[in-house]
Amino acid sequence: MNPTTPAQPLTSPTPPHRTTSSSPRTPDQPTPPTARRLIRQYLRPHHARITVLAVLLLGHIGLQLGIPQFIRAFIDRTVAGAPPSALVGIAVAFLGAAVVNELLSAAVTWMGQDVRWRATNALRADLTRHALRLDLTFHGAQTPGKMIERLDGDVTELSNLMSDYALRAAGNVLTLVGVLVLLAREDGWLGLAFLGFVLAVGATFRPIARVAVPAWTVSREANSEFIGFIEERLHGTEDIRAAGAVGWTMAQLQHATGRMMRVERRASLLGSSLWMATVVLFTAAHALALGFGARLYVGGAITIGTVYLIFHYTEMLRHPFEMLVEQLQDLQRAAGSLKRVTELLATPSREADVDAPQRLPATRALGVRCEAVGFHYPDGAAVLQDVSFDLPPGRVLGLLGRTGSGKSTLARLLMRLYDPTSGVIRLGEIDTRTAALAAVRARVAFVTQDVQLFSATVRDNLTLFDHAIPDARVADVLASLGLGAWLEALPDGLDTELQTGGGGLSAGEAQLLAFARAFLKDPGLVILDEASARLDPATEQRIEVAVDRLLDGRTGIVIAHRLGTVHRADDILILEDGRVCEYGDRAALVADPTSRFRALLATGLEEVLA
Ligand SMILES: Nc1ncnc2c1ncn2[C@@H]1O[C@H](COP(=O)(O)OP(=O)(O)OP(=O)(O)O)[C@@H](O)[C@H]1O
Ligand SMILES: [Mg+2]
Repeated sequence: MNPTTPAQPLTSPTPPHRTTSSSPRTPDQPTPPTARRLIRQYLRPHHARITVLAVLLLGHIGLQLGIPQFIRAFIDRTVAGAPPSALVGIAVAFLGAAVVNELLSAAVTWMGQDVRWRATNALRADLTRHALRLDLTFHGAQTPGKMIERLDGDVTELSNLMSDYALRAAGNVLTLVGVLVLLAREDGWLGLAFLGFVLAVGATFRPIARVAVPAWTVSREANSEFIGFIEERLHGTEDIRAAGAVGWTMAQLQHATGRMMRVERRASLLGSSLWMATVVLFTAAHALALGFGARLYVGGAITIGTVYLIFHYTEMLRHPFEMLVEQLQDLQRAAGSLKRVTELLATPSREADVDAPQRLPATRALGVRCEAVGFHYPDGAAVLQDVSFDLPPGRVLGLLGRTGSGKSTLARLLMRLYDPTSGVIRLGEIDTRTAALAAVRARVAFVTQDVQLFSATVRDNLTLFDHAIPDARVADVLASLGLGAWLEALPDGLDTELQTGGGGLSAGEAQLLAFARAFLKDPGLVILDEASARLDPATEQRIEVAVDRLLDGRTGIVIAHRLGTVHRADDILILEDGRVCEYGDRAALVADPTSRFRALLATGLEEVLA
């Protein structure tokens, strides 16, 4: 195999790979699990399969070493004038051994892949589960491309280690030793000469691999940067076109592809030097074998069949060598991936769940009380300070404040996406930190400005894959939101597939679907982070109706940008730089000529809040 194209045993042609990235680690974080422990952990459940694999591999190596002996016998008997029946016997035995050997080889491949996929799929699942539980701050610091690389690219890179790596390495060493022993059995000096050769080849390969492997790492890095670039630009294609930035994007593309070409060219050249060294060294080995063979044959020490045998074994040395070099490269390549994967697994999730959670009251509306809540994002300045309010069940709080004042952050705390750094948040009198995460999220619906729709059916998008919710209920909710006609017009009804990111839906429809999701949850507290973008009057009205329905009989917190929404609120809280600047009954604030709220209303909310 050409060493410039290292075997890619799994899916992608060149797995995206970046060595520069490292997860944000704080000094107090636990050290990542060691590489060996990680590999052992994922291979342990498959030890029975690995044992079978070892037996198959041993059989395969044994047959590979044994088969040339049949050919020698065949040649020698032919030269000696043995009867055809004896020759046929040898030929049949040879064929049988060859067939069994191929079957064993197929079984080794099958078993190796089986173990590899089982182990890496388990790792993929664990990484994804872990990543889904990680802090939003963590995700904010990662591009989606980078996460894909970690969850799949790095795991694919590790697949070589996560399987029969050690077995194959041992197999290759065993084959090398076997060949040397068999050669020494024919002639002691011959064995010694080839031992010297093997050591010389090893000494030559090491320095070349030391230069070639880092070159490959750089090349994969350039490749992954390129993939990241393409992903980001394709994602932003609408903005790029709108801003007339196509030319600029193309210039950047040229820069990225140019860099890729340079590093790839260098890596290929270095990689092929390894290949060329192999060719030169093994040509020398063949010369050595033929020279030795001729000398021994002429001296009458060996038969012509043995000359063939020596030649054949020389050729057989090549494969385990190449494989060992490749494995060495795999190991170095995987080192970076292993580091990132173990780091990701060691990144602690802030979502520490409680052992004996308190139950949230099952009442329809949940009261909310914030007591001197303070919060700062990890490594960030204070976002909320001393925020207190008391929202009895069934009331609606209008949350106002300039951009960046901490409104969405407060909503995230209520969802327990984060816990406050000081103070207490109570839902139905229960401190949220003592309630189960799942319970909080089941009772609180958070409808954000940014509706996330998945490429799945309408049903799955609304029920979020909860198959216990009957279709009739989904249809009812859609009808109550004025989406009955929309549903009827869908080609496959609830089974219609939505496009990723809600493509094909209007902003208003997407927003209404988000409301439908919230309805199906039947929450006790509804938090609306209202879209500040203007919708057309008809859609706006449909949304207003939907909001009314959703808030009916429930507690609500509405991050308001529109006058319409503010009129609906019973209480008003204005945040300024994370502090409560004004809080009180809406009607009372309207009546108070000195109130900030009244001033806001007078100037038209949106202009002032923007
Ligand atoms: N994940 C985060 N990590 C660190 N800082 C953050 C994060 N999210 C928000 N912030 C910071 O917290 C502050 C408050 O942000 P927040 O999103 O709560 O504002 P907001 O009031 O909802 O603004 P807008 O009206 O624009 O939605 C801002 O200064 C913002 O930069
Ligand atoms: Mg916000």
